[in-house]
Amino acid sequence: MPSAAPPIDPSLDLFAAIDRLRHERKALILAHYYQDPDIQDLADHLGDSLELAKRARDARDAEVILFCGVHFMAETAKIVNPGKIVVIPDLEAGCSLAEQCPADALRAWKARHPDHYVVMYINCSAATKAESDIICTSSNAERVIRAVPEGRPILFGPDKNLGAFLAKKTGRKMDLWPGACMVHETFSALKIAALKARHPDAQFIAHPECEDHVLALADFIGSTSKLLEFVQRDAGTKYIVGTEMGILHTMKKAAPHKELIPVPFEDRSAACQGCNQCPHMKRNTLEKIYLALRDLEPRIEMPAELAARARVPLERMLALG
Ligand code: 13P
Ligand code: SF4
Repeated sequence: MPSAAPPIDPSLDLFAAIDRLRHERKALILAHYYQDPDIQDLADHLGDSLELAKRARDARDAEVILFCGVHFMAETAKIVNPGKIVVIPDLEAGCSLAEQCPADALRAWKARHPDHYVVMYINCSAATKAESDIICTSSNAERVIRAVPEGRPILFGPDKNLGAFLAKKTGRKMDLWPGACMVHETFSALKIAALKARHPDAQFIAHPECEDHVLALADFIGSTSKLLEFVQRDAGTKYIVGTEMGILHTMKKAAPHKELIPVPFEDRSAACQGCNQCPHMKRNTLEKIYLALRDLEPRIEMPAELAARARVPLERMLALG
C-alpha cells in the first residue's frame, strides 16, 4: 500500500533541508546500493548489507542512524548498536526473503532437524535471526559456511538460490528453505544468453540471489560490493550487470569509461511488475528522508530481550571478520 503523501511545502529545497537536519540531529545516513541515485549521493556511507551493518555497529559520534535500505537492514543496525535512535524513511520497505521465513516457521523446521546448524541469510527479521546459530550476507556467506563445524549438517534460509550456490561451492550438506528474492528471480537466462551473444566482449556478472540457471551463465558472481569491485579492477570494458539496477549509478561513477548493461528480466508481472528494481528499496524518497530526520520517525524498536538473542548470531558472523 503506498504511504500517504507527506505534508511538505513543495517549495522546500529538500537537499538543503536534509543537510541542515542531519547536522542538527547528529545523524549518520547509511544507504544501500539499490537506493535511488540522489539517496546514494547524499549518504555518509554507501554499502552492501555487510558493510552497512559494520558502519552501524561502529557509529560512535552519531545520535541517530538514518537507514536508507529495507527494514531488516535497519533492524540489524538497531541490534548491533542498540543505544542509537534508528530511523528508516518507510517502515513498509520490506523484503520478499524476510517475509518468506517467519520465526515460527523456522522454529518448526529446526524441530524437525534438531542436529542441524542454522545459518540464516541476513535478509530475515530479528525474530528469525534470534532462532539462528549464525547469520551471513552474500559477501561472507562462503566463509561462514566453511566455519560451520565439519560434519554438522546445515539448515540454510531463507534464500534457496544463495543456498544452492553455497552448497555447490563448499560441498557441504545443506537443507534449503524455499525462499527467493522477488527481483533476482525475474532475471531471464534466455534473454541474458541472447544478450551475451550480441555482446561477445561483455562479461556477465551476477548476484548469488539469482537462480542457478542464470548463475551458470555468469563470468563472475558476488555481492553488490564484490560486483562493484570487480568492475573497477577488471581489465575488461563491458558488463551485463545481474543485480538490482540501483548499483549501476555507483558503478558508473567508479568506472566512467566502462559500459554497463542492465540485466534483462522475464515479464512475470505477479512479482515486482517484472522489473529489475526492488519495489521495497524504491519506497524510500527524499521527502521521506526529510520527514524521518525532522520527526525522528518511523523508528526501529524491539524488545531488549529479542535484540539480545538476535545479536548473538550476528556477532558470531561479525567476529569472522
Ligand atoms: P548485498 O547487499 O549483501 O549484496 O545483498 C543484496 C540484497 O539482498 C539487498 O537487498
Ligand atoms: Fe529483498 Fe530482493 Fe529487495 Fe533485496 S532486492 S531487499 S533481497 S526483495
